[in-house]
Amino acid sequence: MSAVPAPTSAATNPVPFEFEAGPWSHHHLARVEQALSNWVGDGAPAGLGDAMRYAVLDGGKRLRPLLVMAAYEAVCSAHPAAAAATTTAAAATTPADDAALRAACAVELIHAYSLVHDDMPCMDNDVLRRGKPTVHVQFGEAQALLAGDALQAFAFELLTPDGSAIPPATQATLCRLLARAAGSAGMAGGQAIDLASVGIVLTEDQLRQMHRLKTGALLQGSVLMGAVCGHAAQPAYQALSDYGAAMGLAFQVVDDILDVVADSATLGKTAGKDAAADKPTYVSLLGLARAQAYAQELLQESYAALARSGLPDARALGALADMVVRRSH
Ligand code: IPE
Ligand code: IPE
Ligand code: MG
Ligand code: MG
Ligand code: MG
Repeated sequence: MSAVPAPTSAATNPVPFEFEAGPWSHHHLARVEQALSNWVGDGAPAGLGDAMRYAVLDGGKRLRPLLVMAAYEAVCSAHPAAAAATTTAAAATTPADDAALRAACAVELIHAYSLVHDDMPCMDNDVLRRGKPTVHVQFGEAQALLAGDALQAFAFELLTPDGSAIPPATQATLCRLLARAAGSAGMAGGQAIDLASVGIVLTEDQLRQMHRLKTGALLQGSVLMGAVCGHAAQPAYQALSDYGAAMGLAFQVVDDILDVVADSATLGKTAGKDAAADKPTYVSLLGLARAQAYAQELLQESYAALARSGLPDARALGALADMVVRRSH
């Protein structure tokens, strides 16, 4: 079942784009999957590499890497020569392409690490993730903690390769964006609010802030990293930042909805956990129908920001926002 029913009015992606199972996503998913498989856990000692690979490979929608690639290509569409290089090459060919692929993988590593820690007994105490036993169930708590630590560190190593032609300033900006999205002003800060909010009724402003940090920041950061790889000009960068903020918040609103309306087999993680753990969510605060309406509203905000960007081809970003809101898992 889709999290948010299709609208009866004009709330559809203004520019149609064949997305799910289409050639665009197929191409990028294959590249990201191959790169992650080549890079993750290589040479890690004492079983740590197995836990890292288990956490990252064979699962996940890879939404964040796709956002990096879509933002990168949208920005490149303003410079047709660069765009041609990104759409025809089978592998990374330019320093900018290489930076985008590394950024896509780095953000997925941070996301995977956040899931490993989120599932641990000291946080959400979940046993199922991406249709498999969680990392601490499979490898033990200490190894799960270390796998998360190592994935986080490796994300930044990936962004700063030895002897690379990626300009040092670009490498530094990518590191700063990712660090900010992952740290106390982003995911980790949001997770702290989440844990401190069990059993508490938050105001709508407080809930929005928690969701923007714990989940929205990394999704918005993905878009901004793609924009930096494509050397976005300021007006487009700001519009993409607004798109990322609206889409990123919509993502966690829909995660709250899916926890209520979907089953564990479809989600690949335990359904009904938020109510069981007495977590404040958009469904507990607004009720299901108003939470769905809010997700729709945020989708419209995402489209409007893309329209303001002035980028000639932001269709993949539009399709990804659409997927975020209409997904079933
Ligand atoms: C789940 O994220 C965790 C949240 C931030 C709500 P995803 O739904 O993107 O998880 P995967 O990567 O597809 O497993
Ligand atoms: C987690 O939010 C967000 C993270 C930073 C990992 P949730 O706790 O709602 O994510 P799920 O539902 O377990 O995937
Ligand atoms: Mg959690
Ligand atoms: Mg959780
Ligand atoms: Mg959730």
